[in-house]
Amino acid sequence: MIVILGGEKGGTGKTTLATNLAALRAIRGHDVLLIDTDRQESANFWALTRTRTQSGAKPVITSQKLGGSVLRIAQEPYRVYEDIIVDAGGRNSVELRATMTIADVLYIPIQPSQFDVWTLARMNELVGEARRVNPPLRARVILNRASTNPSITETRETIGILGDYDQLSFSGLVIHDRIVYRRAAARGLAVEEMEPPDPRAVEEMNRFYHEVYDGKTQPQQQTSLTQNP
Ligand SMILES: Nc1ncnc2c1ncn2[C@@H]1O[C@H](COP(=O)(O)OP(=O)(O)OP(=O)(O)O)[C@@H](O)[C@H]1O
Ligand SMILES: [Mg+2]
Repeated sequence: MIVILGGEKGGTGKTTLATNLAALRAIRGHDVLLIDTDRQESANFWALTRTRTQSGAKPVITSQKLGGSVLRIAQEPYRVYEDIIVDAGGRNSVELRATMTIADVLYIPIQPSQFDVWTLARMNELVGEARRVNPPLRARVILNRASTNPSITETRETIGILGDYDQLSFSGLVIHDRIVYRRAAARGLAVEEMEPPDPRAVEEMNRFYHEVYDGKTQPQQQTSLTQNP
């Protein structure tokens, strides 16, 4: 299965979600390849840091940088991987558009803000174009870095606007802004591997994992949208 984390906007959490997903998939015993199409190579650095972590995080995640040649992932020798996760950084990149023509699913993280929502119009167009050659492509929006402050209503307002895009659907996933995501990234780890664990972040990433690989999102508890998430 080929999963892309992509989008028009920078800094929305593509690398954070791609790396956590890759680690969870590998921890659960699957053969995963993490592809980094971004010039910044953050996902690659994360995988490299992982091998250097003093605790020696296992399993090692194989990652590779691929630019214009990203369509090779549909061919040998990449077929040996059960799962490929593509961190498609960069805006409207050739790599993102190319990968969308062969992927199973595209996840678009956005932050609950009007600026991020506006970028979805372009993603809606790109997904429409990709579906001409890859009709089964699924395109799902994830809200990331939602405020944990229940009095901030942006998250609910943003969810309301998502229905405006005919090619995109809301995944139902709301991931909150938590320091553990940044700490784990700095150490080449997934939030699940952090000590002490942050159970709420672990639950969020597990919900994401189930959405991707089991095709279902467990119902988000009402409390996590409204009270003390
Ligand atoms: N849920 C979260 N809680 C706290 N910090 C987060 C969360 N998600 C992402 N971050 C932080 O936000 C910053 C941007 O995230 P990330 O690098 O994953 O975004 P990106 O979409 O890959 O960015 P780019 O477009 O530059 O590749 C990073 O410092 C990351 O640690
Ligand atoms: Mg990135």
